[in-house]
Amino acid sequence: MMTSHILTYLVYTYLRVAFANDIFEKCNNTRPFNSTIGTCLRQSTVAKCLNDNFSTYEDVKRCQNNRCIKCSNLGLSCIPDKYILKSPFLDEKACGLDLSQNLIDALPDYAFKDTSNLSFLYIRVLYLNENRLRWISSHTFDGLSHLEYLNLTENCLEWKDSFQTGVFMPLEAIEVINFKRNKFFDFIDLDNEFHYMTNLSQLYINPYNASGNFTLGPGFRRLTKLLRISFSGLSQNDCSVNTITQNMFTNTLNVLELSLRECNITDIDEQALLPLNNTVADLDLSYNKELSFTGMNKALKGLRYSQALKRLRANMIYSNLELGIEFKEEHLENIKTLQNIETLNIDLNKIEIFNKKVFEPESQWPTSLKNLTLAGNRLTAGKYMNSVFMAEHIIRLDISRQHLDYDPFANYGRMDKQTSLYNRHNIMYTNISNHEFLELNLNTIDWWSVFKTSPTTFSLTCECDNMLSKKVMCLPKQIETIKWRQSFIYSAIPPAVICGASQLKHLYMSFNLFHTWQGPVLGLSNLELLDLSDNYCKNLTKYFFLGFPNLLVLNISGNMLGRSFNPFKNDDAHDLFANLQHIRTIDMSSLKIVDLSQSLFRDMTYLEKLNLSNNYITTWTTDLRSPCLYHLDVSGNKLSTLPENLTTYLENLTRSACNKGRNVTLVLGNNPLVCSCKQLPFWKWLNVGKVQVHGKSTDFCTLNGNPFPLSSMADYRRVLLALKDICKDRYWVSWVIGASSGMFGILMTICVTIALYKNRWKLRYMYYNRKRRHTHQGFECLFSNDAMISYAKDRASFIKNKVVPALENIHQLKLWVADRDSMPGASVAENIVHAIYSSRKTVLLVDEKYLNSSWCVYDLNMARQESVESNRNLIIVVMMERIPSMKLPLNIMRMLRNEIVLEYPENEQYLDAFWTNLALEINK
Ligand SMILES: *[C@@H]1O[C@H](CO)[C@@H](O)[C@H](O)[C@H]1NC(C)=O
Ligand SMILES: *[C@@H]1O[C@H](CO)[C@@H](O)[C@H](O)[C@H]1NC(C)=O
Ligand SMILES: *[C@@H]1O[C@H](CO)[C@@H](O)[C@H](O)[C@H]1NC(C)=O
Ligand SMILES: *[C@@H]1O[C@H](CO)[C@@H](O)[C@H](O)[C@H]1NC(C)=O
Ligand SMILES: *[C@@H]1O[C@H](CO)[C@@H](O)[C@H](O)[C@H]1NC(C)=O
Ligand SMILES: *[C@@H]1O[C@H](CO)[C@@H](O)[C@H](O)[C@H]1NC(C)=O
Ligand SMILES: *[C@@H]1O[C@H](CO)[C@@H](O)[C@H](O)[C@H]1NC(C)=O
Repeated sequence: MMTSHILTYLVYTYLRVAFANDIFEKCNNTRPFNSTIGTCLRQSTVAKCLNDNFSTYEDVKRCQNNRCIKCSNLGLSCIPDKYILKSPFLDEKACGLDLSQNLIDALPDYAFKDTSNLSFLYIRVLYLNENRLRWISSHTFDGLSHLEYLNLTENCLEWKDSFQTGVFMPLEAIEVINFKRNKFFDFIDLDNEFHYMTNLSQLYINPYNASGNFTLGPGFRRLTKLLRISFSGLSQNDCSVNTITQNMFTNTLNVLELSLRECNITDIDEQALLPLNNTVADLDLSYNKELSFTGMNKALKGLRYSQALKRLRANMIYSNLELGIEFKEEHLENIKTLQNIETLNIDLNKIEIFNKKVFEPESQWPTSLKNLTLAGNRLTAGKYMNSVFMAEHIIRLDISRQHLDYDPFANYGRMDKQTSLYNRHNIMYTNISNHEFLELNLNTIDWWSVFKTSPTTFSLTCECDNMLSKKVMCLPKQIETIKWRQSFIYSAIPPAVICGASQLKHLYMSFNLFHTWQGPVLGLSNLELLDLSDNYCKNLTKYFFLGFPNLLVLNISGNMLGRSFNPFKNDDAHDLFANLQHIRTIDMSSLKIVDLSQSLFRDMTYLEKLNLSNNYITTWTTDLRSPCLYHLDVSGNKLSTLPENLTTYLENLTRSACNKGRNVTLVLGNNPLVCSCKQLPFWKWLNVGKVQVHGKSTDFCTLNGNPFPLSSMADYRRVLLALKDICKDRYWVSWVIGASSGMFGILMTICVTIALYKNRWKLRYMYYNRKRRHTHQGFECLFSNDAMISYAKDRASFIKNKVVPALENIHQLKLWVADRDSMPGASVAENIVHAIYSSRKTVLLVDEKYLNSSWCVYDLNMARQESVESNRNLIIVVMMERIPSMKLPLNIMRMLRNEIVLEYPENEQYLDAFWTNLALEINK
C-alpha cells in the first residue's frame, strides 16, 4: 500500500515537472521576426471559421446572441483579414471571436478593425490563448471599445518587451483579462500601461521570477473596480515569487479575492496584507509548500481583527517530504482574531496531532468559524481528542483521508469489563445522568426488547464535559456535518454512545473498513443522512439502525451484505431496517444481494427512491408499501421478469397523491429479461403502463433462440407483438393441462388423459422449462455447470467426499449437486429442470435405490427429455453396482443401450482411471 502511494506520488511529480518544463518551449521561434508586424503581413490570411454560440465557454453570458466566431486550432500564423463563415451574420456584427490554439506570434496594429464582411466594433469576447504571441503593437486593440473579456493565457509574452506603449489604452470596457502562463519577470511600469483599464474587475497574471519586484504601482489606484487578483497559474511552476513584500498591494484597495496559490512563496511580509484589511474576503495561500503555519500566521498579522475575511485557504503549506506537524495554539494567534471568518481549509498539511491548548482551557478557534476542513492530514489519536468538543461553534467538519490506523471505537472496550449496576432499561431514557450509563456494558443489553417496549428510548441526549469526554466520544455541540471518508478505519461499529451530537445531521463515512455494523449507536437520533458506502461490511445486525429513527437518506452501497439481507440465511433479515420509518432514499446498490426479505421495507411509508442496482436478484420477492416511491432502480440484476404485484404497485404510484407533478421511473437495464409466454403480462405492462422505464441500449432478450434487441420503446412493442403471435400455441398447452378434469365430457377426458399420460414427461418438461427454452447449437458457453450429478439420497456423503473432490478439485469441473446448489424457494422439480438445462451433461449414478426413488426417476426422465428436445448427448450413466438385468425397468434398459455407460470400479486401483474417463466424457 505504502509503496504504491509513493510510486503514484513520484510518477505524478515527475509528470508535473516534465510538463512544466515544456511550457515555453514552443516559444523558441526560429522564423525571422519583424518586430513591427510579426512574421507575416495581414493581407494574405483567410480563415474558414465556425459559427458558434460559445456555449461551452465560461463567459458565454457576455454573448447571448449567437454572433460568435470560432477560429481555434486552424494553424493560423497571422490575424486573418477575411473570415469565412458557413452562415454569415445578417448584421455583420460579431460579438465573440475565438482565435485560440493557433500559431499567431504577433498582433499588428488595427488587428481587429472591420474586414470586408464583418464588423468587430461591438466585439465583447476575444480569445487569443494558446498562441505564440510575443509582440503586441500599440494600436492592436484600437476600436475594441466594447471588449469585456480578453484571454491571453499560454503565449510567449514577456513583460515589458512584448508590449508596445499604450496598447491597453483602447480597452476602456475590459472587465476580465487573463495573462496566465506568460513571462512577467517583474511588474515595473505595469501600472503605467494598465491604468487605462478602469473597468477591470478580474486580473489573472503570474509573477515569473522568484526575486522580482512585483509591486503593483500607484497606477492601480485608478482601477477602483478591481475585485479579484489571481497570481496562481494553471499548474505548478507557472507562478514564482518568493516573497510578498510590504508594498505589493498598497494600491489595490478594493480587492475582495486574492489568490497567491502555488507561487513558491516562502515569506509574506507582516504588513503586506494590511492594505486589504477592510476588503479582502477570500484569501488563498495554498500550495506554497515552504510557507508553513508560522508563515501563514505572520502573513495574517496585517489582517488582525479583520471583519472582511470570510474564507482562508491554506492547504498544503508544508512540503510532502517533511515530518508530521503538531498544530499549536500559536498558529491560530491571528486567525482567532478574525471577526467573520466562516471557512478555514487546512487540508494536506501533515498535521499529526493538535496541541491540547488549541481546545483547552478555551477553544482557540474563532467563534465565527463554521466550516473547518482538515482532509488529507495524518491525524493520529491523542489526548486532544478528549477536548475536541470544546470547538463548539464548528458546524461542518471534514477529516477525510487521514490514512491513520486508529479505531475510533476502541474507547468502548473499557466498558466491557463491567459490572452492570442500574436497571438496564431505565438508563436509556433521555434524562439520564451522564455518568450512569458508563457503568453499563452496552454489549449485554437486550436491545431488541428495549426497542419493542419503547422505540423512543433510543433517542439519547447527553451533555459533554471534561469528565465525560474521557469516556465516550464527545462532539462539538453545534456540529451538523462530519465527513470522515477514505481513512482506512478498520473497525467494527459496536454498541456505542456519542455525546453532544444532537445536531448532527449528515455523516459521511464511506471508503473505510467498518466491517461489522453491530450497533445501536446512541446519541445520533437527529441524523438525517448516513453514508457508509464502500466499507467492505459483511455483517449487519438488526440493532444497527435502531439509533437513527429520523434518518432520511441512507447509502450502504458497495458492501458485502448479501448474506445479511438473505432471509434464508439470516433470521433477522426481515428486521434489518427496523426504526427507519421516515426514510426517503436508500441506496443498496452493489451489495451482492441475492434475496430480500418480503417485509424488509414494510414500515417505510415515505420511501421515495430505492436503488437496488448491481446485485444478484433473480426473483423479486420484497413488498414495497410506500405511496411516495418514484424512483426504483433494479438495473444490473438477474431478473428475468417483474411479478405482477410489483408492476401493479408501480402503476398505482403514478396516480398517488405524493407523486403529483413528478414521473415514476423504473430503471431496468442490464437484466436478462425473458421474452416468453409466461411473461406476456409483463411485456403488456411495459408497453401500456405510465411508469417511465429506462433500459440500456445493449439490452436484449432471447426470443425463439435469437437475441432480440431491447433498446427502445419500439423494441418493447415488437416483443409484445411477437409474443402475442407465438403464445397462441402455448395457450393450448396450458389449456390442455388445465382443462383435463372436466368440461369436455368423459370421452374427451379419457382421450386427453391417455395423451397426457403418454406424453407426461414431455409435458412436465415443457411446463417447468417454459421460460428457459432455447435451442442449443452455439450456446455451449452459456452453461453455467459442466455436469449435473443425479444420485440417490443416501449417496450424499459419497458425493461430498469422493465425487466433488475428484471432479471439481482435480479435474476442475463445475458440478451441480442438489444438496449443495439447489435454489432455495424453488420447487424440487423446478430445480432439477433448471439444473439439467444449465449443465452440459447429466451424470446419473444408478443403483437399486436410485431406481426406487421417485425424484431420481424424475431426474432421469427429464434429462432424457432435454436430450431429445435439444438434440444434445447429455446423459452419462454410471452403474454404481451390478444390477441384474431382470430388475432393470424397460426404459432404463433402452437407455443403457443408447447412452454412454461407465461402471464404477469395485477395485480401488482403477479409481483414478475411472475419474479421468468420467471427466473426459463430461468435457466431450
Ligand atoms: C528553447 O530555448 C531554451 C533556452 O532559451 C533551451 O534551453 C531549450 O532547449 C530550447 N528548446 C527547443 C525545443 O529548442
Ligand atoms: C518590418 O516591416 C516593415 C513594414 O513592412 C518594414 O518597413 C521594415 O523594414 C521591416 N523590418 C525588418 C527588420 O525587416
Ligand atoms: C482562458 O484560456 C485558458 C486556456 O489557455 C483557459 O484555461 C481559461 O479557462 C480561459 N478563461 C479564463 C477566464 O481564464
Ligand atoms: C519595486 O518597484 C516599485 C515601483 O514599481 C518601487 O517603488 C520599489 O522601490 C521597488 N522595490 C524594490 C525592492 O526595488
Ligand atoms: C522556489 O524557490 C526556491 C528559492 O526559495 C528556489 O530555489 C526554487 O527553485 C523555487 N522553485 C521553483 C519551482 O520555482
Ligand atoms: C483591520 O480592520 C479592523 C476594522 O475592520 C480594525 O479593527 C483592525 O484594527 C484592522 N487591523 C489592522 C491590523 O489594522
Ligand atoms: C460551508 O461549506 C458548505 C459546503 O462546503 C458551503 O455550502 C457553505 O456555504 C459554507 N458555509 C460558510 C458559512 O462558508
